[in-house]
Amino acid sequence: MAESMKGLRRTHRCGELSRANIGETVTIMGWVQKNRNKGGLVFVDVRDRSGLIQVVFEEGSTEKELLEKAAKLRSEYVVAVVGTVKERSGAVNPNLATGEIEIVPGELRILAESETPPFPVEENSKTKEEIRLKYRFLDLRRPDMQRNLRMRSQVATLTRQFLAEEGFLEIETPVLVKSTPEGARDYLVPSRIHPGEFYALPQSPQLLKQLLMCSGCDRYFQIAKCFRDEDLRADRQPEFTQIDMELSFVDVDDVLEVNERLLAKLFKEVLDVEVPLPIPRMTWQEAMDRFGSDKPDIRFGMELTDVTEVVKDCGFGVFTGAIENGGSVRGINAKGQGGMPRKKIDKLVSFVKDYGAKGLAYIAIQEDGTVKSSFAKFMSEEEMSALIQAMSGENGDLLLFAADKNKVVWASLGALRLELAEQMELLDKNEYQFLWVTEFPLLEWSDEQNRFMAMHHPFTMPMEEDWPYVDSDPGRVRAKAYDIVLNGVELGGGSVRISDPEIQTKMFEVLGFTKEQAQEQFGFLLDAFKYGVPPHAGLAYGLDRLLMLMTKSDNIRDVIAFPKVKDASDLMMEAPSAVDTKQLEELGLEIKTEE
Ligand code: AMO
Ligand code: AMP
Repeated sequence: MAESMKGLRRTHRCGELSRANIGETVTIMGWVQKNRNKGGLVFVDVRDRSGLIQVVFEEGSTEKELLEKAAKLRSEYVVAVVGTVKERSGAVNPNLATGEIEIVPGELRILAESETPPFPVEENSKTKEEIRLKYRFLDLRRPDMQRNLRMRSQVATLTRQFLAEEGFLEIETPVLVKSTPEGARDYLVPSRIHPGEFYALPQSPQLLKQLLMCSGCDRYFQIAKCFRDEDLRADRQPEFTQIDMELSFVDVDDVLEVNERLLAKLFKEVLDVEVPLPIPRMTWQEAMDRFGSDKPDIRFGMELTDVTEVVKDCGFGVFTGAIENGGSVRGINAKGQGGMPRKKIDKLVSFVKDYGAKGLAYIAIQEDGTVKSSFAKFMSEEEMSALIQAMSGENGDLLLFAADKNKVVWASLGALRLELAEQMELLDKNEYQFLWVTEFPLLEWSDEQNRFMAMHHPFTMPMEEDWPYVDSDPGRVRAKAYDIVLNGVELGGGSVRISDPEIQTKMFEVLGFTKEQAQEQFGFLLDAFKYGVPPHAGLAYGLDRLLMLMTKSDNIRDVIAFPKVKDASDLMMEAPSAVDTKQLEELGLEIKTEE
């Protein structure tokens, strides 16, 4: 039977006690981590979110009744202990913050009993993630998860503090909205009052924050929930959180400058990591050419080399064919990997096929200078040595080449570069390399839709000097868009917005919207902009991704209290779930079941 805590008041959290408290009478409350009964001597570790403290019940000094009660304690029982802090009588535990002290109890209350938990509540759990997520309330008791939640709270608090000091207003925007185009599928919410009509959950507060600029709020921020019905990956959730902001009367540099200071503050105060400012900038074109990615991990080199010019007249049809089709040939040099076994190289070849590559050509330079290559037979000796030289190939190096359309070459080698870095253990999670990627293309051709799409979103401002090419060569127009990248992860992105109605109208036209469609979807924004819209720009971070990197986690779920799994379900609540027919009727909905 559970006892009440009546008359008791907690004086300390377990992990806050130290030698300084020796001699004091304290009251702690928490969960039993472990109970070691040595017959007449019972050690009980009590845990709360701050840490552990050992309580020692000993025959002779502890009342018999209390000793018997202590012997009954099991893992995850909730207890209150009143006792005196003493220097440890037994061995000091150097691994524990409170390892030099213990509590000698005068009173023990069992506030709640617990069934045997489905897995031990301890650091670095080896338990399968499905089980952890089903019992997330227990999983979150584990110290590593507690640390993650604490860091997340600290980041949110510091962000609010910093942005408030910089003159940003925290403004909430609604969650039941009209669909906003961020490129993903919307989550829809049926309306009861308007049968057959739907709200959308916001993919981001994009249009609303632009309207707030129109309203004269000048600087807005929000820690905002966003919803996107897209395929999940390690760094994607269907609902996630943005640190979202928008600023009036600014250009690119103003946005980047205030955000650099925010990032520097967060990393200094939370991790004691100095972020050297300014954060380096790289144009999208340079990022693609050098790293094959718009979110390059610059913690290591292994950059791409364009060898199109070197091989354009060679005898290898794969290379010359790709070039004739308007593509390129590029390579990377995996230093010291020339001895890689054939089987492992074959694995790399199938790896790049996932990125659309038709193959991967290689030259493995052995330590003795001899060469193994998948295409040497098609090349003259001079052509081979020119290629090796262009790649700065030395004895012991592995040179890997892709030949295709630029898009495929970049995607394949960009991914291959990361895969090799992983295999070669070049990535250090303690190193943080920030990078701004700027001057993204405004438009991106979609083969699927057979039209140009906005690369960021339709409200992104083109670069003035490129705008004249919008009709003749739309793909060439760059945008005032930027991403903040950390260790190869896109942490956030934003842009200067279009505040000129003429440019906006033209933009919709290029994207293939009719006037009516544009008015129907974005009418409220276009109307607002008729009444004096200031130049404005903004940015949003994925808070979850930021924390994933700050906590050195491999997946975003570890920094979200109640995340969803790959198929977008919540294993604990068992959501989504079927609903009453009555609820459906009220909404005027009927479920079509497949025969
Ligand atoms: P964007 O779509 O680039 O921009 O999103 C901004 C940042 O949000 C994070 N993010 C995600 N995190 C977890 N799960 C997801 N499914 C997910 N999708 C995006 C990323 C990303 O960089 N309104 C614009 C911002 C602006 O222009 O101001 C926007 O939403 O870290
Ligand atoms: P093949 O002549 O098809 O046997 O190809 C010879 C070598 O070129 C093999 O190592 C292939 O993996 C490689 N290869 C084929 N297509 C490409 C491509 N598009 N880019 C780079 N290498 C390729």
